[in-house]
Amino acid sequence: MRTMEQESGSGRVVLCAEGVWKSYDDGAVTVLKGVDMEVSAGQTVALCGPSGCGKSTLLHLFGGLDEADRGRIVVNGAEVNRHGDLLRLLRREVGFVFQLHNLIPDLTLEENCLIPTVAAGTPRAMARARLGELAERTGLSHRLGHRIQKLSGGERQRTALCRALMNRPRILLADEPTGSLDEQTSEVVLELLLDLAAGEGVTLLMATHDRGLAARCDRMVEMHDGRIHEPAYA
Ligand SMILES: Nc1ncnc2c1ncn2[C@@H]1O[C@H](COP(=O)(O)OP(=O)(O)O)[C@@H](O)[C@H]1O
Ligand SMILES: [Mg+2]
Repeated sequence: MRTMEQESGSGRVVLCAEGVWKSYDDGAVTVLKGVDMEVSAGQTVALCGPSGCGKSTLLHLFGGLDEADRGRIVVNGAEVNRHGDLLRLLRREVGFVFQLHNLIPDLTLEENCLIPTVAAGTPRAMARARLGELAERTGLSHRLGHRIQKLSGGERQRTALCRALMNRPRILLADEPTGSLDEQTSEVVLELLLDLAAGEGVTLLMATHDRGLAARCDRMVEMHDGRIHEPAYA
């Protein structure tokens, strides 16, 4: 039973994992071994840990891209499971930024960003206006008609940020969003990510193995031995 306080305002839990287990290869590799974590509305949280510890696995579960073996994943108060309706809802409420942008190289920046709005049934004029706004904030207004393959790594990740925010999600999951970029470009993209999240009141969960980047978030949690540990100093 949720309290009034949890239902409204910034203390509300928008991402919750309870006793989540996940293995691959028919149980040969167990990655998540009883993950418990909660993220409140408006927080920016860094999910840290070395490569291979299970950060992407957990983000995929939160984004409805994969399913837990055991335990509960709750997003905005609704449990994520096989039900199609919920997955449709998730696609609107949750934006995803991947390490390697996952844009379609042959399409233009604009075409890539409009795809999620077509899926969501947003009128085209409204979608274009939204893209105009996001492109301006990310310094990409002059690149709208460029094919992705002509863009730099930083521009691609900025495009991926725009695409993830097109449907005005309340939650943004970012999986090593600067992992493919050099240090200077990483800094620019992270800055934009945090600015956009703050500006739009979006809750951000970002996987990273870079502690410098992690320290810029409100909160840092560590994945270790398939579980989440919250450093006392965070
Ligand atoms: N689809 C998959 N099939 C089999 N093993 C996988 C799959 N996805 C991830 N793994 C394994 O699970 C572990 C955790 O992976 P991942 O969640 O990608 O870690 P991280 O994002 O922290 O680097 C790794 O050992 C990886 O090889
Ligand atoms: Mg990963």
